[in-house]
Amino acid sequence: MAEEVAALPSGSPRPGLAVILVGDDPASQVYVRNKGKACQKAGIESITRLFPAEISQEKLLAEIEQLNQDDCYHGLLVQLPLPGHIDARKVIEAVAPEKDVDCFHPFNVGRLLIGMPVFLPATPAGIMELLRRYEIETSGKHVVVVGRSNIVGKPLAAMMMQKQAHANAIVTVVHSAAGDLGYYTRQADILIGAIGRPEYLKGDMIKPGAVVVDVGINRVEADTPKGYRLVGDVHFEEASQVASYITPVPGGVGPMTIAMLLKNTLKAYHLQTS
Ligand code: GUN
Repeated sequence: MAEEVAALPSGSPRPGLAVILVGDDPASQVYVRNKGKACQKAGIESITRLFPAEISQEKLLAEIEQLNQDDCYHGLLVQLPLPGHIDARKVIEAVAPEKDVDCFHPFNVGRLLIGMPVFLPATPAGIMELLRRYEIETSGKHVVVVGRSNIVGKPLAAMMMQKQAHANAIVTVVHSAAGDLGYYTRQADILIGAIGRPEYLKGDMIKPGAVVVDVGINRVEADTPKGYRLVGDVHFEEASQVASYITPVPGGVGPMTIAMLLKNTLKAYHLQTS
């Protein structure tokens, strides 16, 4: 991405990303800071607009509209989760679809589902890219996605099932209503953990030789300087004995998410400046 930005003709505008963060959720603060740092490394202009948790929905929507109109920023995202008094759906729908680098707007989600995406949602795209780069076959393989969130589970399932290269998988989505989760996960050639529960997927829930992708980032209390450590949704010590490939937490899917966000920002830039 840095090379692509560096190769832009001199005198052309710089790509820009605007991030809105509401409240003081510590994990969100880390994610937003990392997005800003990555932009800086790649030569993408970025701003973060910080607002207190008490901001009114009306004021937040007005801030989004202002950034929608600002030509300096080609990508715009609102970090989730939002405080309870704000309707996240209204906020997501307020972001101009052409700046929606998270791919959360219903317009972009719909396009994704029918195989006509403008942007790919960052975390699922990061997972697909990891599998592609490690030459892990997905066509005809059974991908079991644990978790049905709008951010990961649902869009990843939609992408994995598309009839196209590096997808074309047989997809099962399983979630908290499953009585026996292991019954499903043990059938996975590729297992995706995206439920947000620390070390929930144990070694005996994984088929020997399966590829395991861990999307979870959970803080658990620990005797460390920060008072916690980060663990995924997968029990790494157990799963790594059984799996053929496994992603670490931290350092696996997280950095890929940020890379794909930058990719979307450059795409938005090209679409808006061409
Ligand atoms: N919260 C957790 N993941 C994400 C993400 O990818 N984008 C935004 N905006 N908020 C998130």
